[in-house]
Amino acid sequence: MSHFTPRSELPEWCFLQGKAKAMQHTHLRDLAYDQARNQALTFQAGPLFLDISKQKLDASILNGLVRLAEAVKLPQAIQDLVSGAVVNNTENRPALHTALRLPKEGSLIVNDKDIVPDIHESLARMRSIVDRIHSRQWRGFSGRAITDVVNIGVGGSDLGPYMACQALTEFVPPEASQLHIHFVSSIDGTQLSDLLGTLKPETTLFIVSSKSFTTIDTLSNAHTAMQWMLKSKNDKQLVLAHHFIGVSTQPQKMTAWGIPDNNQILFWEWVGGRFSLWSAIGLPIALKVGMANFESMLAGAHFMDNEFSQKPLAQNLPVLLGLVGVWNATFLDIRAHSVLPYDGRLKVFPSYLSQLEMESNGKSVDKEGHLLDYHTCPVLWGEVGPNAQHAFYQLLHQGTQAVSCDFIAPIQRYTGSLYSDEAKKSLQIQHQLALANCLAQSRVLMLGDASANSDDSTPNFKRYRGNQPSTTLLLEELSPFTLGALVALYEHKVFVMSVIWDINPFDQWGVELGKKIADKMMIALVSDEKVALDASTQGLLHLIRHAEGEGI
Ligand code: F6P
Repeated sequence: MSHFTPRSELPEWCFLQGKAKAMQHTHLRDLAYDQARNQALTFQAGPLFLDISKQKLDASILNGLVRLAEAVKLPQAIQDLVSGAVVNNTENRPALHTALRLPKEGSLIVNDKDIVPDIHESLARMRSIVDRIHSRQWRGFSGRAITDVVNIGVGGSDLGPYMACQALTEFVPPEASQLHIHFVSSIDGTQLSDLLGTLKPETTLFIVSSKSFTTIDTLSNAHTAMQWMLKSKNDKQLVLAHHFIGVSTQPQKMTAWGIPDNNQILFWEWVGGRFSLWSAIGLPIALKVGMANFESMLAGAHFMDNEFSQKPLAQNLPVLLGLVGVWNATFLDIRAHSVLPYDGRLKVFPSYLSQLEMESNGKSVDKEGHLLDYHTCPVLWGEVGPNAQHAFYQLLHQGTQAVSCDFIAPIQRYTGSLYSDEAKKSLQIQHQLALANCLAQSRVLMLGDASANSDDSTPNFKRYRGNQPSTTLLLEELSPFTLGALVALYEHKVFVMSVIWDINPFDQWGVELGKKIADKMMIALVSDEKVALDASTQGLLHLIRHAEGEGI
């Protein structure tokens, strides 16, 4: 029997703990002017540039992190991931989002079957649906072409496509310019009811996106959408055939709901929900930016997959980003992480990442079920940087909380011919302003008021202590390719962290109990059945039922 050594007892781990202790006495400003250190801590992968030199680490710490990665067999774990080994041990399946990005001529045998042809068949189905809608051949019940597509999904069946559609608004091809893509996720119905008021049933198409096809949030929105359609055309079969597409791993459940076979697109159990935007869950992206741009996103992600599986650890962008994440969260005990894009097109990216990182790595047991004795995933949140400067940066600069940040920005912007010369010039200046702010903020977070040569007579309420670590990630430009690479970079960062922490990033058991209890609560809310409850819940329920009874 092999002897199990907890991570925290590995010599590489203890070495880093010692380094972290020593780092407590170092301010980032002590490291900030070392050119050689800067050079050693800046990296490139194709159109992505990574600067981790504003992190509280040096070459010996980075080497120590790489040695830890080797000690926990990260290179083998990466090969296991991309080759289809059962990396999701609690659900006994592989996690093959990387396969979704393999080119047609690739091949990957899983359970004695090459899965690449199936993946490309599904892409071909997506393409044919996209073509029919873009060429106005997909008609609603009255014979008019579809003008509005509503994606109904939640979590991974919403955030990935929503994020990418927001990010790529400048890549809409002419054939898609008249098509509007909308997203509805929330169970309370607000988004849907607001939206339905602006749409025409005869020209609206719903995509019901759900890996499991059991998620009540999605099914309740889909049910309301169906009722809205039926009010205009009381012929369920016709409405289903012309106005509902289903995307799921569960064909029987889609069929039971009424989605005709022709309107179903399937994907596979081995695609995790939060990793599914590359599958048919990405249909809204393809509808928004065209299939060629969607494929370019896949190519960008595939480029990053190759970096991840082939580059040495110390030169490997996702590995480096993951190691820095572990260094901050576990060794420096920084429990909050903010993602700050300096580009309004990436406004959904922080929300997307909050699911990707926190649903994957918000865990407290290792793969064998032992309780962990170290901190894992930090609280992750974010916002478009320039807006956040006028909102929560106060806390970053003068609060009591240590926070690590990722600054993300494209180098080039507004290069297209969409604008008049004057407008283009003005927008380019706005982009430079955004970049200047991006650089200014990470500099102040690092140096504090030493960045402005302030003196000791400055009162405390005006002082900036600095010493908040950050990473800066620059993209040559934001395009389908670079977006694909960026998203894959973070997917792999999450995996790297999970391997160091020895946790399964591909399950999410922590979200299940709330769903069960909500079912019980619904019974307590709408029926007279007695349910044993705690005092607070009982009181709130009483209040709601009492108020409803009085017609409030
Ligand atoms: O409840 C969490 C979750 O299962 C996520 O992991 C998932 O992305 C989301 O719900 C939606 O699930 P589905 O695609 O099965 O509707």
